[in-house]
Amino acid sequence: MSQGKLIERYNASERANHWLVAISFILAALSGLALFHPAFFWLTNLFGSGTWARILHPFIGALMFLLFIVMALRFWKHNRITDADRQWAKHMTEILQNKAKDLPEIGKYNLGQKYLFWALLTTITLMLISGIVIWQPWFAPLFPIPLLRIAVLVHALSAFVAILCLIVHVYASYWTRGSIRAMTRGTVTAAWAKHHHPAWFREVMNKNR
Ligand code: HEM
Repeated sequence: MSQGKLIERYNASERANHWLVAISFILAALSGLALFHPAFFWLTNLFGSGTWARILHPFIGALMFLLFIVMALRFWKHNRITDADRQWAKHMTEILQNKAKDLPEIGKYNLGQKYLFWALLTTITLMLISGIVIWQPWFAPLFPIPLLRIAVLVHALSAFVAILCLIVHVYASYWTRGSIRAMTRGTVTAAWAKHHHPAWFREVMNKNR
């Protein structure tokens, strides 16, 4: 097979799902930061006013959670941590020094991608639960004040970790040349698949035989 031949990595519905998550995540993050600290208050202009940012933020967040859960249900199978990943984790120093030999082949996602997937799932779920607890005027009056205080803290901390995860995710997809097109056009080259995800490449080739 020619190295430039294209292989499908995501179908149109998976890509639409991913980009809707990305848009809603960014809107939730911007409206959340606007409410978090006066230094970011100017971001409320993007949503009409401070009041609108305050009203919209929880709805955008809840929508983002739903879209993310649909995507997570589609992708979780490929993100299960396997024995092969544990082998990888054990040999991380040699891998970083480019000295590793005879390691198991990587499937659809590498260990870093898998950790990121589970970190996003955990933080987004924590944001939803804590967000519901502090959602005025609907749910917050149902809970005692000490719980509201804990929920505010959990909400801010999990949002901070999720935003860090997103920065790593975007940087890694840009840095790994040939990855962005997987999520824009749906395809990757055979050379990319063989180099970054050889076990997945073999699986796809066997299926198409
Ligand atoms: C905003 C800019 C974003 C860019 C440029 C981007 C880019 C990409 C690319 C290129 C891939 C394919 C990687 C591959 O197949 O190896 C991907 C996959 C993925 N992205 Fe994004 N993404 C963005 C935002 C997000 C957001 C906001 C989330 C979730 C909060 C997210 C979650 C995921 C997940 C779960 C995958 C599949 C990887 C896995 O399941 O381990 N992405 N993204």
